[in-house]
Amino acid sequence: MIKQEDISKILDATEIVDVINAFVPLRKRGVNYIGNCPFHNEKTPSFTVSPSKGIFKCFGCGEAGNSVNFLMKHEHYSYPEALRFLANKYGIEIQEEELTSEAKILQDEKEALFHVTEFAQKYFADILFNDQEGRNIGLTYFRERELTEETIKRWGLGYSKDKWSEFTEHAKKNGYTEDILIKAGLTIAKEESHVQYDRFRSRIMFPIYNIGGRPLGFTGRVLSSEKTKAKYVNSPETDIYSKSKVLFGLHLAKNAIVKQELCYLVEGNMDAVMLSQNNVENVVATSGTSLTIEQIRLIKRYTKNVTILYDGDSAGIKAAFRAIDLFLENGLNVKIVLFPDGEDPDSYCKKLPQEEFKAYITNEAKNFILFKTHLLLDEAKDDPFKRSALIKEILNTISFIPDNIEKAAYVQQCSSILNMKEELLNNELNKVLRERYFKQRKEDKPKLDQPKTDLPPDDFFLPSDDGSTYISSPNAEKQILPSTFPDEAQERKIIALLLNYSDKETTQTVIGEDGEKKDENYLVAAYIVGDITTDQICFDNQLYQKIFNIYKDYILEKGEIPELNIFTNNQEKEIQNLATTLLINNYCISGLWESKWKMLTPDPESSERLNLDVKESLLSLKIHKLEKKINAVKEKLRIEDDLDNQLILLSEQKTLEKIKQIISTELNRIITR
Ligand code: CTP
Ligand code: MN
Repeated sequence: MIKQEDISKILDATEIVDVINAFVPLRKRGVNYIGNCPFHNEKTPSFTVSPSKGIFKCFGCGEAGNSVNFLMKHEHYSYPEALRFLANKYGIEIQEEELTSEAKILQDEKEALFHVTEFAQKYFADILFNDQEGRNIGLTYFRERELTEETIKRWGLGYSKDKWSEFTEHAKKNGYTEDILIKAGLTIAKEESHVQYDRFRSRIMFPIYNIGGRPLGFTGRVLSSEKTKAKYVNSPETDIYSKSKVLFGLHLAKNAIVKQELCYLVEGNMDAVMLSQNNVENVVATSGTSLTIEQIRLIKRYTKNVTILYDGDSAGIKAAFRAIDLFLENGLNVKIVLFPDGEDPDSYCKKLPQEEFKAYITNEAKNFILFKTHLLLDEAKDDPFKRSALIKEILNTISFIPDNIEKAAYVQQCSSILNMKEELLNNELNKVLRERYFKQRKEDKPKLDQPKTDLPPDDFFLPSDDGSTYISSPNAEKQILPSTFPDEAQERKIIALLLNYSDKETTQTVIGEDGEKKDENYLVAAYIVGDITTDQICFDNQLYQKIFNIYKDYILEKGEIPELNIFTNNQEKEIQNLATTLLINNYCISGLWESKWKMLTPDPESSERLNLDVKESLLSLKIHKLEKKINAVKEKLRIEDDLDNQLILLSEQKTLEKIKQIISTELNRIITR
């Protein structure tokens, strides 16, 4: 358990842009930051982060929250895991009980898996450098492959000894249970004989990390070339490691990928390590599996441009073909570099001087049309059947490109290379597309892409005609508002003011005990809560009412203003969502004033503007509520037969209208000032 005071310390120290930027490249836009949402597939960024409020919100898929929520969702951390991650990042010490071995079993299993995997990574690295067998065999092997000590350390590489269970014994002595060692895939247990042994023995060890740099599992490679042993042994799928969802090296490559707007994709772990040692740092490896959609999504968070560096053998080419279609289908630009026969990126990189190798992978990068055509043309020669199959094959690939203009450009290129009429190719292409469409409909395949909404424009919170702020995206509207009703805009404005300006000072005119008008200073939240409570106004939207009540309870009972975290981290997902939305849009002052105030007070946060806005919002809300009451009274009057009752209702109506008149006049005075 982490103490509440430590949690506050952690949340205070946390910089959300800093946290999210480690996983999602962000760029500044106005007071906020934007980036491509990591939680759904999108082409234009609608993922918004507010540094001042400490929250994020995606306008495409609706995901929202604070730093802790982000880590829980993105890294699949539990709540305490996310807090520990942040504490670690910001160097905040947290008071947690030292774990006994029993507690280790009880604690969150995933965290335990992370722990033991990290323990193993350190163990294998330690053996490599400090154990005699490790040095003699492991380190010697790495040296033969020309890895520097710096590279070995940077990647956390290691060595597992030629012993049956040395690691397992060592881990147990350090308090790790058999159960967790087996679950992490580090130890193998034979049920019949009750024998336990290490999964990785006599191998060099490549740790596989998540984007944050935490080890999830391992690939162990044999050192010898003897064919009796499997060349690779991998961690099995565990609760923290799924082969198809990670890319080897991404934790080291991500920044370089963003900077260079390009990701190199290789097959082998050694390829990635060697390239990074040679200053090609924007490189990740698929580790021999065929590329998955999850891996593409990972890349897409950082760049849209991929260059595949595969072996020139037929397996490599086949893998490249498959990868091309998948990349194109997901809207990435893809190029391919093939290496001379018998070479892979690792070996070829060692053959050439650094700069020449870099030039090679830049200059030899072919777009997929050139690549496919050349390869296939070679095969087809003049055989007309083969040629037509080749054309179909290329058009099939083109058909995966989501963008129509791009598609047309490729058809054009294809037509000139193959010397065929564009029209003919277009007909063929349409046929492919039609077929795919019908096939997909039949299968009713769930689409990979989630709702595609573009980033709301800067004026997302465009004022509507009545001067209130409305969310203009139909999607967002649906997310927050169960139903719309006339007072929606007024109610929302009050809540937005509370959330955004609760602790700002405002000067308001009130009537003192002596009946005289005077100016008093209040905190915005205190004034709004006081005013609304006095007039006994209720919110029609229950979510707004709940948020208001939290403010009311804090102010009236505790005498303090609630922290934003109470809302952005609320147990109720809807409150979290609503608060985040109202915060991130940096509530702007009603449009009616906009043009006027732009001239008068260029600073949108000026205190004068805030004073008036608080006043105007409260008056508008009251007018709407009054109108409602008046209408209700009128309706009663319409069906009331008793004269006495009619008179009572009439006088009630008059009173209400009088109040409304007073408020209207005041409101007018503000607006037309
Ligand atoms: N791989 C694997 N399991 C296998 C085969 C391959 O995990 N049974 C993965 C490894 O991650 C390896 C990659 O596929 O790095 C590429 O395999 P391969 O081309 O055989 O290895 P290289 O990277 O070329 O290894 P080396 O140069 O050390 O021979
Ligand atoms: Mn190799």
